Amino acid sequence: MLIKILGVALFFLFSLNVYVRDDLTDIESEKVKKVTSLTNNFLKAERSEALSGGAGTVDKIGKNAFSHHFKNLSFEQRQDFLIGNAFFRKIWVASPSSTTSSDGLGPLYNARACQSCHIKDGRGHLPKEEKPLSAVLKVGNYYNKILLPNKIYGKQIQFFAIPGLSSESNLNINYIESNFRKNILEELDLKYPSYQLNNLKYGELEKNTSLSMRISPQVIGVGLLEAIEDSDILAKQDINDEDNDGISGLARIVNDENGNKKIGRFGVRASTPNLFTQTGVAFMHDMGLSNSVGTDSYGDCTKKQSECFKFSTGINKKDLHEVNDEVMNKVVFYLSSLSPPKRRNVSEKDVLLGKKIFYESKCTSCHTPKYVTSKNAKHDFLKYQLIWPYTDLLLHDMGDELADKDVNGNITNKEWKTPPLWGLGYAKEVNSRAGFLHDGRARTILEAVMWHSGEAKESLAFLLSNYKDDLDKLEKFLKSL
Ligand code: HEC
Ligand code: HEC
Repeated sequence: MLIKILGVALFFLFSLNVYVRDDLTDIESEKVKKVTSLTNNFLKAERSEALSGGAGTVDKIGKNAFSHHFKNLSFEQRQDFLIGNAFFRKIWVASPSSTTSSDGLGPLYNARACQSCHIKDGRGHLPKEEKPLSAVLKVGNYYNKILLPNKIYGKQIQFFAIPGLSSESNLNINYIESNFRKNILEELDLKYPSYQLNNLKYGELEKNTSLSMRISPQVIGVGLLEAIEDSDILAKQDINDEDNDGISGLARIVNDENGNKKIGRFGVRASTPNLFTQTGVAFMHDMGLSNSVGTDSYGDCTKKQSECFKFSTGINKKDLHEVNDEVMNKVVFYLSSLSPPKRRNVSEKDVLLGKKIFYESKCTSCHTPKYVTSKNAKHDFLKYQLIWPYTDLLLHDMGDELADKDVNGNITNKEWKTPPLWGLGYAKEVNSRAGFLHDGRARTILEAVMWHSGEAKESLAFLLSNYKDDLDKLEKFLKSL
């Protein structure tokens, strides 16, 4: 009998998808549930709504809005922030050089500093005439839905190389008029980028090679995103769309730096689980600097690029890698302590109306407004904070228009991670050329919304049939973030 009851209880537990936070007591759990439940009162702002990054949220505007640490750092932590910032801005050079602690760049590379891409800690943009500087073109070939690095060019196209070596290619972008949604909003002027790789120096790409352009995302608040409990992410996962809302978010499972399976949180396709791995991958693939995560000091050079291996590496006698873990950890601390900016105009009438439109259109199905971070987070200033990132960190099919395509134009992957929306209104103040969406094609926030399709189809249909004339209010809300 007892076994039977237990069996039934267990069955219920699993079929209800109950995800329990093991960092909280029962009373705390109830409290958290209450403060993170979605509001239905749009007459006034919610408590603490302006403090996107919790109690330590900075309140500074302007060009450097994304470059401040949380207010509540200790003296020692402030020092570490400054050291980490120096490494984030540091310009690496080719080896051998007289400054052995800064060499090892390349041989092939996309940029010489983290900051060149994550402009003022904000997002990048697509290039005009110049070589791509704050965007990365990933390449690879899918075999049975698994993406493998391209045999010749590796994981991404490097548009730069150290003296004496040819960079991999030049890039030309054409912007093509799109009729998408023109039948609903005539004044809409959506254009999508089409890429031509000219002068591929190491051979042509096979036609089934997938091209995936990504502008560098902003890096504010990433420590808080790392501090969201797994169970809060898994609770929103709905792989087979069992609740029938047309949305089937997937928590991507990836390896961390020790080979353990974890939920992917960073990158436009949630390819890395934490900031340490993300930093390692960036040093290795974007700059050609080896480290304990990405151990190859020739970076993204492949066997087919034998010219690469004639150059010396930046490894000196006392270190195993070009970038040691001490430097990695300082950069990770820097990223962890970058605060999202305080929101503006939260109580303005139009902003509240826009918020209502956002909630009613179920943008919140993917852009989850708020969380309370883990009590086990790495630093005090990240622990048990009510935060407002507007992401579920899950992957969603966003439709054919936004999908990656191969050289022949066939769709290869339609899934993207919901990006956090905090800081959206500051993006163009920080970088006036900032683009929106993974590839930066959207010139404005509203264009980004209009490109939504796939799992967001119904959300957009509702928005356009009910609030077509109030899109300015939605925009005001998004710009207040
Ligand atoms: C050549 C440009 C470039 C350079 C240099 C670069 N990044 Fe990035 N970064 C990107 C792009 C593009 C992405 C998105 C990558 C993806 O989705 O695969 C990204 C993603 C990230 C993210 C994840 C943000 C999020 O919310 O998903 C972090 C954190 C990050 N980079 C940190 C760094 C650090 C630290 C360095 C220096 C060690 C660095 N980056 C160097 C372009 C760059
Ligand atoms: C099915 C999930 C889903 C729904 C519903 C959804 N979004 Fe998104 N949103 C995403 C994803 C995924 C992206 C990134 C797509 C890309 O980069 O190509 C995104 C990107 C955005 C961006 C651009 C952010 C940036 O950093 O560039 C904005 C703005 C945005 N969404 C607003 C909205 C609004 C407003 C609604 C409701 C009308 C909405 N979204 C509904 C998943 C969703």
